[in-house]
Amino acid sequence: MEQKRYGHFDDQHREYVITDPQTPWPWINYLGNEDFFSLISNTAGGYSFYKDAKFRRITRYRYNNVPMDNGGRYFYIKDGDTVWNPGWKPCKTPLDFYECRHGMSYTRITGRKNGVEASVLFFVPLKKWCEVQKLTLKNESNEVKQLKLFSFEEWCLWNAATDMENFQRNFSTGEVEIEGSTIYHKTEYRERRNHYAFYHVNTEIQGFDTDRETFVGLYNEFADPQAVIEGKPRNSHAHGWSPIASHYIEVTLNPGESKDFIFLLGYIENEQDEKFSAPQVINKKKAHALIAELDTTEKVDRAFDVLCAYWDTLLNIYKVKSGNDKLDRMVNIWNQYQCMVTFNFSRSASFFESGVGRGMGFRDSNQDLVGFVHQIPPRARQRIIDIASTQFPDGGCYHQYQPLTKRGNNDIGGGFNDDPCWLIFGTVAYIKETGDFTILDEMVPFDNQPGTEVTLFEHLKISMDHVIKNLGPHMLPLIGRADWNDCLNLNCFSWDPNESFQTTENVSEGTKAESLMIAGLFVVTGKDYVALCQKIGKTDEAARMQQAVDAMIDAVKKHGWDGEWYLRAYDFYGRKIGSNECDEAKIFIESQGWCTMAEIGAEDGMVAKSLDSCKKYLECEHGMVLNNPAFTKYIYEYGEISSYPEGYKENAGIFCHNNPWVIIGECLAGRGNDAWSHYAKILPSYVEEKYQTLHKVEPYVNCQMVAGKDAYKPGEGKNSWLTGTAAWMWYTVSEFILGIKPDYDGIRIDPCLPETAGDYTVQRKFREADYDITIHPNGSQKGVKSITLDGQPVTGTVIPYTPGHHTVEVTM
Ligand code: BGC
Ligand code: NOJ
Repeated sequence: MEQKRYGHFDDQHREYVITDPQTPWPWINYLGNEDFFSLISNTAGGYSFYKDAKFRRITRYRYNNVPMDNGGRYFYIKDGDTVWNPGWKPCKTPLDFYECRHGMSYTRITGRKNGVEASVLFFVPLKKWCEVQKLTLKNESNEVKQLKLFSFEEWCLWNAATDMENFQRNFSTGEVEIEGSTIYHKTEYRERRNHYAFYHVNTEIQGFDTDRETFVGLYNEFADPQAVIEGKPRNSHAHGWSPIASHYIEVTLNPGESKDFIFLLGYIENEQDEKFSAPQVINKKKAHALIAELDTTEKVDRAFDVLCAYWDTLLNIYKVKSGNDKLDRMVNIWNQYQCMVTFNFSRSASFFESGVGRGMGFRDSNQDLVGFVHQIPPRARQRIIDIASTQFPDGGCYHQYQPLTKRGNNDIGGGFNDDPCWLIFGTVAYIKETGDFTILDEMVPFDNQPGTEVTLFEHLKISMDHVIKNLGPHMLPLIGRADWNDCLNLNCFSWDPNESFQTTENVSEGTKAESLMIAGLFVVTGKDYVALCQKIGKTDEAARMQQAVDAMIDAVKKHGWDGEWYLRAYDFYGRKIGSNECDEAKIFIESQGWCTMAEIGAEDGMVAKSLDSCKKYLECEHGMVLNNPAFTKYIYEYGEISSYPEGYKENAGIFCHNNPWVIIGECLAGRGNDAWSHYAKILPSYVEEKYQTLHKVEPYVNCQMVAGKDAYKPGEGKNSWLTGTAAWMWYTVSEFILGIKPDYDGIRIDPCLPETAGDYTVQRKFREADYDITIHPNGSQKGVKSITLDGQPVTGTVIPYTPGHHTVEVTM
């Protein structure tokens, strides 16, 4: 069935262009690259925060609202009796034209109504703690226009969690100051806070409002604020209740005339002894300075150019030209962009993650950095140190940490037995990209306790040891609280609906619950660890770990093979999970992915059989499901996985994150056609073309989960943006399909392609070198026949690293 379209890609500008504001779900973008961040929907909904979406929320947002996506940075334009917004919401006045362009860290929303065009460019300038909103009003009619313009932001009382619940206190704490065209939000500044926010416009204002009830009206909505409807600001001064910021500006525009207004939403921190300029008056020096940097169109345009140049640089590091636009736009633009966003946010703030629940995940961040490390290696380096600093001396680790404090999150604690392995995964990727082995000598504490520091290498070692020291009866890794699949809770046993599966105290005494997924992960990262040890001359340690890896391979072959695929796990009592003998969920994807990536039993045909079984039992039109058949009832011994209805989330949803594992398995096995067909099924640009309505969420990024074949509506996506899928899609396509793989001494070239692939080029910056690589597949799926580097033949598949510009020709 032909599906309605809501937008299209504009590759030249690296934008997705939304042409209908009533998308099937808010289609959002992220602004900001390091400290100050905003989420912005295609109707300008969303919010801003500084570093931590929970503890430093600057503007308020209500999730799961009615109507959807209500609240944001709104401009109300009153033209005679008509009130409208450039982004359609909240007034929803029908527009003569609407367009939203989501680009690389910026969004431009344009609306036209009755001869007036309003275009707003939203972005966060590099290294600045503010969101710029550059509004351009243009009179396209033949008459003089007298417009009344109202801006609108609603302050959050900083802690996004208590902001939503502690009203007995909140309604009495709100405080603001007004100075000229700037409205300052200073709730709790008098006591323990040293930070405030402001909302400024670079022109004289004719009025303002700071009290929500006065501006909107107690029983009105954002769609019809009383002050706007009457065209009269109240000049209200908030004391408690809900402080807001609204400027009122009278604008006269002659025919053809246009005017810019620069609005700034800023965040400031002051030193303790410089908090006040007079009793009760906040010190505004830094705010004034920030405003002065961005108070004209010229200054703002320059800051925008700098931001765009920054993205040029980032996206010039890996560029493919394949002749397939759908592939190129994902590889060159959107996949890399999503990797940066997930690296920044982990799983904290999206339109599915409330920003209050989860900090930075230990395993999540290690995986995310693989999608990002080629762009800004120093940030990846710092992230590795931050993550490792939350490890415990026994190699276990906090499952999450808070970005503001960098401390482990006690609410969730540790005990997820896959976590330690991911530190090796992340660190190895970092060193291969940069050649920077010095990171291994960094002194890194345990649980952030000063005085406990050991080298990062030591952290890697205890990570490996944590697996070996926690083996079960089949000599396979004990699963702990859960492995990558947070919902396979084999030691949980919960009948209490008020308990969270994630935090319930697990039974560990006497458990036999083992994970084949960790087994595969251990073999993959173990091989990497062994190679690393050899590289740095730790041959004894390499030999020790090689033995453990070999033992694990044996254990999988002996106790982890079900005949046609790898088992998933053993439960608390030592019974098989993911076996043909089970009634439901006979096969799971995670162990197929990791054990094929580890190539366990390839020589005995296990890998090929496992991959075939994925195609036979897991694959459907929209990707591969997590398990099959789905669980149809809650199983006390399995936990959350069986709590989901069939086809959703971890119960047989297409959990996109793990599809690339099988795809890499396919690539290693040389099955390029199969690898590509799995890949294209979940590649956003392919989905975009066919399924905008069904898919529902943003068509320019991957989402965590697409409803699987057993679901009510297969193909419907959820949890867009913040997902390990981004990094895994990147890792898969850049290194395994297109086959450009950083290695310690150079770049390994080993593509795995569908036989229909034509010649392609990849431009890759690597350390101090630039490579122009041309690949001639000649209809072959795998296997490099010859490589030349600057015209000279290379032996093997690694082109040795030397600084400078190089041309590489590859024949398959
Ligand atoms: C979800 C998982 C998630 C976990 C931790 C579960 O409800 O299904 O995908 O990782 O919560 O937040
Ligand atoms: C989402 C979590 O962020 C991730 O850590 C986990 O592995 C997957 N869900 C699967 O449960």
